[in-house]
Amino acid sequence: MGRHHKQEALPMTQDTPNRVDQSRDGDVFILTINNPPVNAFGPGVPEGLKAGLDAAAADDSVKAVVIIGGGRTFVAGADIKGFGLPREQAPDLRGTVAKLDAFEKPTVAAIHGTALGGGLELALGCTYRVAVKDAQLGLPEVKLGVLPGAGGTQRLPRVVGAQKALEMMLSGNPIKAPAAKELGLVDEIVDGDLLAGAVAFARAHADARPLPRVSERSVEGGSPEVFAAAREGLKKTHRGQHSPSHIVDLAEMAATKPFQEGWDAEADRFVDSLNSPQSRGLRHIFFAEREAGKIRGLSKDTPTTDIKSAGIIGAGTMGGGIAMNFLNVGIPVTIVETSQEALDRGLGVIRKNYENTAKKGRMTQDDVEKRMGLLTPTLKMEDLAGADIIIEAVFENMDVKKDIFTRLDKIAKPGAILASNTSTLDVNEIASVTGRPEQVIGLHFFSPANVMKLLEIVRADKTSDSVLATSLALAKRIKKVGVVVGVCDGFVGNRMVHRYGDEARKIVEEGARPEDVDAAMNALGLPMGPFQMSDMAGLDIGYSIRQHQAKVRGEPEPDGWLDRIVKTGRKGQKTQGGIYDYGEDRKPKPNADVQKLIEDYRAEQGTQSREISQEEITKRLAYSLVNEGAKILEEGIAQRASDIDVIYIYGYGFPAYRGGPMQYASEQGLKNVAADLEKYGQTPAPVLKQLADEGKTFSDYDREHAGA
Ligand code: 3HC
Repeated sequence: MGRHHKQEALPMTQDTPNRVDQSRDGDVFILTINNPPVNAFGPGVPEGLKAGLDAAAADDSVKAVVIIGGGRTFVAGADIKGFGLPREQAPDLRGTVAKLDAFEKPTVAAIHGTALGGGLELALGCTYRVAVKDAQLGLPEVKLGVLPGAGGTQRLPRVVGAQKALEMMLSGNPIKAPAAKELGLVDEIVDGDLLAGAVAFARAHADARPLPRVSERSVEGGSPEVFAAAREGLKKTHRGQHSPSHIVDLAEMAATKPFQEGWDAEADRFVDSLNSPQSRGLRHIFFAEREAGKIRGLSKDTPTTDIKSAGIIGAGTMGGGIAMNFLNVGIPVTIVETSQEALDRGLGVIRKNYENTAKKGRMTQDDVEKRMGLLTPTLKMEDLAGADIIIEAVFENMDVKKDIFTRLDKIAKPGAILASNTSTLDVNEIASVTGRPEQVIGLHFFSPANVMKLLEIVRADKTSDSVLATSLALAKRIKKVGVVVGVCDGFVGNRMVHRYGDEARKIVEEGARPEDVDAAMNALGLPMGPFQMSDMAGLDIGYSIRQHQAKVRGEPEPDGWLDRIVKTGRKGQKTQGGIYDYGEDRKPKPNADVQKLIEDYRAEQGTQSREISQEEITKRLAYSLVNEGAKILEEGIAQRASDIDVIYIYGYGFPAYRGGPMQYASEQGLKNVAADLEKYGQTPAPVLKQLADEGKTFSDYDREHAGA
């Protein structure tokens, strides 16, 4: 790199930061983008790139230009934080890409880390792309409810063909550099120093004329059938979402219309999608997920321990699923059961799960054996003495859990984390039977625990900061989204879902059919409504929770219509029937006996059944979640409203494009939500009422309470 020397950057206006350094390596001009942490296309980047291109154009001794990212990555996309800005104030990504496209000398994007969204579009505006082996390239815009807005929909199909471009843009998933090379998206893989490799590549192609501009190519494989199939596929993968169909339309334009026409249409559709509630919802979740890891009272200096081994008590559905999370990332697990039979059954299920994955080609048989090899089954709890973390996943019963924790306190090594997978019980009470309550925490996994991304991390009164920080780091390591919650009945998710279930049952009592209630939630975008969900979880579970709650509150035995269904022996999918019947296809079908039972129940209660509109069902159910969420916020059980949204999206199937229940309520206008709650006989929580009166949203609440 002897010839590589820095030149002074062009002067920027006073408020535009300098984000692009100019330098030279002989006849190759180098533009280095420096906008940490991920070189997002924020203010200063387009100005710097355009100024750099002008300088390179003006200098006859410059033969080619290399664009590279400083720090850990190439450009990871447009600046999502600036998405709310009016068009004229937003960083001019399109103008920069257009300038590159029209540039008269070869340009080379040198990619490491991630070239995502606007980053890949910038690279596609260049004449060539080179990358290091572990670089990733993708157009993830769909995940933010938008579409590639700087030529991606027009250029990617021209490079990789219609089919592959649709796949990449509709999944939003990136591909690795070697796969990109196969597709022609990357021209060369650079081993060793990226800049040196890119400069050499640029020099070797300096005289290529005419320049192979992407915009001048045609799209391969763009038959009408390909787009028709893509549209059909969206009904399954992106039901209810707008930006994916824009993407298909635009890719079709790339295949059938002149470049300029598609490029112009893309700009309009991008702005439409950007200003949609769906995009606001998805962007809200993008940041919410990252905020959730920032916990009041913890800092980067909070000590954590390295988890090298785990113990799990219970090899049932939950215990087995939890174990898989650890095995998947190479952490050895000792799993305890009370009988050999239960242990064998549990291990059999884990093996079968892995083998099914292998059958689908997503893992090799070797991987299956490797993971199973990390698992030690035992009947002796004493074998957990060496584990860094022990997670209890047995039946939801306080006495049983207390007994286990009393024994664990004697067995576990000092410093081990003692966790309960309870979904409702008081973690303080569980911790109180040990001599080390600071080591006790709740880790609430969601079923199926090897699939669902949410982990509610329950901070009990005495849980130490270090145990909390270690649990958060662990969540990340086992690829979960960890959200910290406080102790209360049901924590955040189940407490809200109980309230929602109460409302759903009430709506049926008043006259709706269970299938109407589920249909309303399906229309909102939830894959399962409350009754489909209870049938899947097992109706006996909800029943036993209601029994427990009635006991605690000193109320009589629960005897509503749903309790009566359970008493007839119908417990849901596991008994082939619950609220619905299930055939071979496992699709729910209404059952005449259940309908009769509900009608008899209404008659017995003297209820005059009435027609209930879908709008009323949707509002009552969604807002019952929101109102309980507001109480949870007020009590400090959740640190932020956005944490509640993350919980609902990753644990309960609330559609991400609605941003979670709290964001959904904000979109509806909290004033309207409060008024509707009152209209349907619920009292709005004080926080909700206050925000509504002040014309604010839950995001305003989060901002005002940040770090408090
Ligand atoms: N804009 C603004 N900030 C961004 C950003 C972006 N595009 N991407 C990441 N950040 C921020 C994060 O919010 C986070 O901030 P924080 O530290 O204050 O919480 C910080 O950068 C680091 O991000 P991560 O914690 O996610 O770091 P990782 O290393 O785990 O992941 C990443 C890095 C893979 C780049 C990941 O951040 C990511 O996927 N980013 C989004 C990429 C994306 O969606 N790009 C497309 C944007 S839309 C677009 O380009 C439109 C165009 O077509 C017009």
